[in-house]
Amino acid sequence: MKLPRPRPLFFRNAEQLLTLSGPPVPRRGSALGELGILRKGAVLIQGARILRAGATSDLEAEAARCKAETIDCRGSVVMPGFVDSHTHLVFAGSRVEDYEQRLRGRTYEEIARAGGGIRFSAQKVREATVRALVAQAERFLKGFAAYGTTTLEVKTGYGLSVAGELKVLEALRRLRKTSALELVPTLLAAHALPAEYAGRPSAYVNLVARRLIPAVARKKLAEFIDCFCDRGAFGVEDCRKLLAVGRRHGLLPRLHAEQLSRTGAARLAIELGAASADHLDFLNGSDIRALARSNVVATLLPGANFHLNMRNYPPARRLIDAGAILALATDFNPGTSPTLNMQFILSLACAAMRLTPAQAICAATINAAYALRRADRLGSLEPGKQADLIVMDVSDYREIPYYFAWNHCKMTVKRGRIIYSRR
Ligand code: NIG
Ligand code: FE
Repeated sequence: MKLPRPRPLFFRNAEQLLTLSGPPVPRRGSALGELGILRKGAVLIQGARILRAGATSDLEAEAARCKAETIDCRGSVVMPGFVDSHTHLVFAGSRVEDYEQRLRGRTYEEIARAGGGIRFSAQKVREATVRALVAQAERFLKGFAAYGTTTLEVKTGYGLSVAGELKVLEALRRLRKTSALELVPTLLAAHALPAEYAGRPSAYVNLVARRLIPAVARKKLAEFIDCFCDRGAFGVEDCRKLLAVGRRHGLLPRLHAEQLSRTGAARLAIELGAASADHLDFLNGSDIRALARSNVVATLLPGANFHLNMRNYPPARRLIDAGAILALATDFNPGTSPTLNMQFILSLACAAMRLTPAQAICAATINAAYALRRADRLGSLEPGKQADLIVMDVSDYREIPYYFAWNHCKMTVKRGRIIYSRR
């Protein structure tokens, strides 16, 4: 469906315009936290792109010349839309049963071993139609947009068979066609060992390598490949193999690493030049230094720590001090992090991992865009970049994490179109 060209938009008089301007490289060390703030800032958008970003007084005349529709942003912060670089959007039903069991004292891993967890979600997906998967995801996508996310990575992982994963990818293909948000597809077939393959992980890995990956690549259904490399999931050798096969088929690797135990997965991500290593709860000092020397984005997912009520959070400060590239994401999924609210993730990152609000915003925009190989187009407000921005109902950006668990977003713009506006 071809939409008519949107009218130019002029966002003027923002109390703070967070441009995050700079070269399209990830922000590390002291650069993490440079927001490029302009007071009384403005952004002029034409079509899907940003024409100019600067002081309101400097842009006024040009906005009038192109007859832009004016949106007054007095009292607001204008910033790039959030890039949520790690989600498991497509699933069926929920996992409230697991949730209650955990509240009664069972652990995530105990529940998974007993056939709950990811395998329970896989059963639900097996019983669902593609239409039902799409309908549930659409409801969540409305929520993502309303909370200020404009791009999200979406993993499969609840199919756990060739047919099941292809079904989830088909739902995702439909969602990518119809959603106003940009969805970046990742194949995560190695998420849990399906019950039929109990005790035979290599047989499942071979199936994925020989049948699923080539089919996915041929039909161009995914851009990245991911594996859950952990105790109780898949071992380093199997993950190395799958990521290598994926890469040969044009899927870029990323990895769930060191979430429940230290397995060496972060080292594997570095060895393979993965786009990101995600979770990273169990890192040692030398892992931290190795990540800092690499271009692998250390993606932290504190929503999972919160929901699983873990006492410890990933070593964010040590990663920052060492010079690693940090990103933040929701990890939206039914088992460990059922939140789609990036603003709450910023609050958690500040409260539990001691990021500054500015560091958290960089990690959730430009660095996350880099983790999805889109930093040349997304993650900052600069001329030529895609017009993905949000208007936040606060006059100081620090209030976004500070007033936690609110929704401060009053407008979301994707590719130059207003896709959400608060009444
Ligand atoms: O990122 N760690 C593995 N995958 C998800 C959990 C998925 C689930 O429990 O359904 C995560 O936390
Ligand atoms: Fe995850």
